Amino acid sequence: MKKIAILASGSGSNAENIANYFKGSDYAEVSFIIANNPNAYVLERAKRLGIESVVVTKDEFKAADSIIAMLQERHIDFVVLAGFLLLVPQKLIQAYPGRIVNIHPALLPKHGGKGMYGDNVHKAVVACGDTESGITIHLIDEHYDQGTTFFQAKCQVLPTDTYEDIASKVHALEYEHFPHVIEEILHTLD
Ligand code: GAR
Repeated sequence: MKKIAILASGSGSNAENIANYFKGSDYAEVSFIIANNPNAYVLERAKRLGIESVVVTKDEFKAADSIIAMLQERHIDFVVLAGFLLLVPQKLIQAYPGRIVNIHPALLPKHGGKGMYGDNVHKAVVACGDTESGITIHLIDEHYDQGTTFFQAKCQVLPTDTYEDIASKVHALEYEHFPHVIEEILHTLD
């Protein structure tokens, strides 16, 4: 059984969707959730789902050692960033090479980088007058929103769309695709 850890900073709707996708699977399971904010709603979801969760500070995360130890003690094979806003330190990337995946709510390389998360991204799409947006699922490296892209899916952006409209189209794509793309990446590691 492959063990997945999810790192999240906020609501955690993707975390819950991924956990539910693997529920009952004999191939992989979400067994650990790390949040960097004690008020993140993902912690409520973890409780409800019966998944162990911890809160870490920004400094702990940056130092990486205790995070790596937590992951290794739990025999985590793969790490998923689902709405996680801190930069992943090099040490953690080296401990899980090619085994940390992120989802970005736009078509990278457009609208990526520091500060580009959640609604900020959708507001930028509106401001640029883009006619499409979407999701990018990519392996991570030491820069925000870079690393090998594994999967993209697009949605249309209408001239009348608000950033909230775009957010809901993008969330729909995330729920549809992120879990099965994680499963596909896991299979490449077999
Ligand atoms: C998701 O849309 C995800 O793509 C985005 O944060 C949202 C989290 O929603 N991630 C980023 O912006 C990373 N740069 P959720 O907490 O409900 O899953």
